[in-house]
Amino acid sequence: MFCRDMNSYGRLSYLKLLDASIGLMHLFFNCSIRENLTVTEAALSLSDPMIVVVGLRRSIRNGTRTVDILKGLDFSIPRGQFAAIMGSSGSGKSTLLGLLAGLDTPSAGNVHLNGTAISYLPEDKLAQVRGRTIGFVFQSYQLIPTLTALENVLLPHELNADAKDGKAGLARARELLTSVGLGDRMDHYPVQLSGGEQQRVALARAFILRPPIVLADEPTGNLDTTNGAHVLELLLNLNRMEGTTLVLVTHDPVLASYANRRIVLRDGVILSDEMSANPEDGLVGGTVGAAGGMGHSVIVGGGGER
Ligand SMILES: Nc1ncnc2c1ncn2[C@@H]1O[C@H](COP(=O)(O)OP(=O)(O)O)[C@@H](O)[C@H]1O
Ligand SMILES: [Mg+2]
Repeated sequence: MFCRDMNSYGRLSYLKLLDASIGLMHLFFNCSIRENLTVTEAALSLSDPMIVVVGLRRSIRNGTRTVDILKGLDFSIPRGQFAAIMGSSGSGKSTLLGLLAGLDTPSAGNVHLNGTAISYLPEDKLAQVRGRTIGFVFQSYQLIPTLTALENVLLPHELNADAKDGKAGLARARELLTSVGLGDRMDHYPVQLSGGEQQRVALARAFILRPPIVLADEPTGNLDTTNGAHVLELLLNLNRMEGTTLVLVTHDPVLASYANRRIVLRDGVILSDEMSANPEDGLVGGTVGAAGGMGHSVIVGGGGER
């Protein structure tokens, strides 16, 4: 079930992936990194962006050979922006997203999330930062098969040491599931749900702790066109309602056309980085499809790699 993402994140353990997706340990972590910033990092952080990437490199040793997957990326993403990371298969998109989520350690450089440099934190502290900062949506959903839809959505809340109010968590989980159209499927197990429904459960799970950042790796990649469009619309609606910063990995230009910004990777470098021609587009503009008034009438899903 997890094969596709396990390929993309082959060097990562499933538990680490799960940790990012469900937001384990929502403890407060008080770590000021600002006194250790380099000049570049300090300059980048002045505008208080939500994500700052500085000199990010990732190389992998493959036998006697070193493969340079990411070759030194620098960019920042402001609070509330919807950025699409694009590029053909193998360009480094999933590797970048794994580094943004702190699921992987760079060979050089650093990632700052909401003012905290995360790349070299010890695992327990990283888990705390991930838990309170990131919601993750995977191409292959990654729901726990032995838990119902409601229990899957609730899980991050249950594991969150800060979230003591069980009733409030339950109410939010129900509200989120209802908002993604699954009000009558809460007690269903993943196996009893279609792919589109499973991904909607995963969306609700990603948002339950109100993370400031949501990262999504080809979230419509396993879905047909109609379900893909529906999931994207729900993702954008949730994102707009919650005011999160959204980074969406896709190689589908139609999906990316809904973003405020498009960063294109090729062979581990940034080929282009462009803002949307129409700033009304993206999550601030409306809903996906004909009803949204965004100038787009069709969304094509199925942007995944096959
Ligand atoms: N663990 C690994 N070992 C060797 N090469 C890897 C590993 N993980 C990824 N790669 C390679 O790095 C490149 C980028 O991979 P990835 O980030 O998954 O690309 P994308 O998501 O854009 O398709 C690919 O050429 C891939 O084969
Ligand atoms: Mg990928």
